[in-house]
Amino acid sequence: MHKKLTNFYRPSDDTFFLEDNLKHENGYSALDIGTGSGYLAQVLLNNFEFVVATDINFYNLKSHYSKSLHYICCENADALSYKFDLVVCNPPYLPSFTLEDITIDGGKDGIEVTFNIINSAKNHITKSSNILFLASSLSNYNKLLYDLNIIGLKTTIVATKKLFFEELILIRAKLNV
Ligand SMILES: C[S@@+](CC[C@H](N)C(=O)[O-])C[C@H]1O[C@@H](n2cnc3c(N)ncnc32)[C@H](O)[C@@H]1O
Repeated sequence: MHKKLTNFYRPSDDTFFLEDNLKHENGYSALDIGTGSGYLAQVLLNNFEFVVATDINFYNLKSHYSKSLHYICCENADALSYKFDLVVCNPPYLPSFTLEDITIDGGKDGIEVTFNIINSAKNHITKSSNILFLASSLSNYNKLLYDLNIIGLKTTIVATKKLFFEELILIRAKLNV
């Protein structure tokens, strides 16, 4: 059960790491799942014409509203019926016994929330699209990669970044066709 819908996630090291890796991505349409402050969605506007940002937290979207973005309050990308050139996500990825803080709690292995998000994103890409998302070395990300392969996504680790207490892992996923 999600409890703290008032928690906001300020752009942080992980946000900026993902941003650094978006510079060479371009196309017409992009989706940012779990947009939080909308920081990454705004970055996507540099290289994409049509940018949609989702977040499960309505108060988040309301307090960071910007006219240039299309906001949808929903879980994952479940409310959408459109296929994007690029999907990005900085999900809650820390191992947690409960999903009390939706900004950081990722489930028992730190991958359960991410799996649901990417499984949903899979319905909104074509064979030429990319999904770029983050995981942490503190999570069971090898299991995540295995599980995503089972549902028809091929994944590659494209970059890593060492922080004080963990390593951030940037993963690219594509339809396995
Ligand atoms: C780690 S924060 C990242 C925020 C922002 N994208 C950034 O990089 O600064 C994760 C965000 O995902 C949202 N979120 C958590 N679970 C979600 C879900 N199942 N579907 C959509 N958004 C979700 C949270 O409300 C939070 O804003």
